[in-house]
Amino acid sequence: MPHLALLLCLLAASLGCRREPERRSAGVQPLPAAFGERQAAREHMVRETIAARGVKAPRVLEALRRVPRHRFVPPSLAGSAYSDRPLPIGWGQTISQPYIVAAMTEAAAPEPGARCLEVGTGSGYQAAVLAELCGRVYSIEYLPELAEFAAKNLRALGYRVELRTGDGYAGWPEAQPFDVIVVTAAPERVPEPLLDQLALGGRLVIPVGPEGGVQELALYVRRRPGRDPASFERSSLAEVRFVPFLGDAGAP
Ligand SMILES: C[S@@+](CC[C@H](N)C(=O)[O-])C[C@H]1O[C@@H](n2cnc3c(N)ncnc32)[C@H](O)[C@@H]1O
Repeated sequence: MPHLALLLCLLAASLGCRREPERRSAGVQPLPAAFGERQAAREHMVRETIAARGVKAPRVLEALRRVPRHRFVPPSLAGSAYSDRPLPIGWGQTISQPYIVAAMTEAAAPEPGARCLEVGTGSGYQAAVLAELCGRVYSIEYLPELAEFAAKNLRALGYRVELRTGDGYAGWPEAQPFDVIVVTAAPERVPEPLLDQLALGGRLVIPVGPEGGVQELALYVRRRPGRDPASFERSSLAEVRFVPFLGDAGAP
């Protein structure tokens, strides 16, 4: 028998079998060249449009300083990547403005080692910011073309994010419970599966409201098990304008 194993091994080697590539940990071993680009613009963005508007969490500011946002927009828009506005990424969708990304991330308060879920991967930028801060990151994108765009952007920078294409309404049941859930498209009502998948003490940050109307950025913190309203503490963070939540399940 040992001879058979050796033989199979040699056969595999002669067929050019390769070892599994080494896996990067959650986004902390980036490719140096990309991370060195446009650092001054990034620093200016963090100082003048994020910290100046009240975001304080040092780890969040550091993550925004590090992630090369210009690598998450179409190349023709790279020069605008550090201005404080959303930018088109194709298929009718946008990368959110840096201040909103920072404010939502600060409200979600990801701690080292946290399990984090994003709904609405888009370009992959918010997922990369979470990868700088969380232990594991999961992200769901409804549109296959954008899921591919995000996968490419994240891979090129060495970020390790679990990606899924589909309707984020259902969350990611196999990976729950989550310490942090960030939703970057606005449903009319909060999807119950997302509340169900929050760990005790976990935070859900989500824009809620009608397309084109007044939407509220809400924070839910799970205070006890169960799904009755007393299980969650809810607070309102800001008025916002997000793209609508897609999919049948998101309809009112
Ligand atoms: C404002 S964009 C997201 C920006 C993204 N977080 C980034 O950093 O680039 C909202 C994204 O949510 C996606 N989306 C909308 N409804 C969704 C759903 N039901 N499930 C998953 N993704 C959804 C859209 O396709 C879009 O890519």
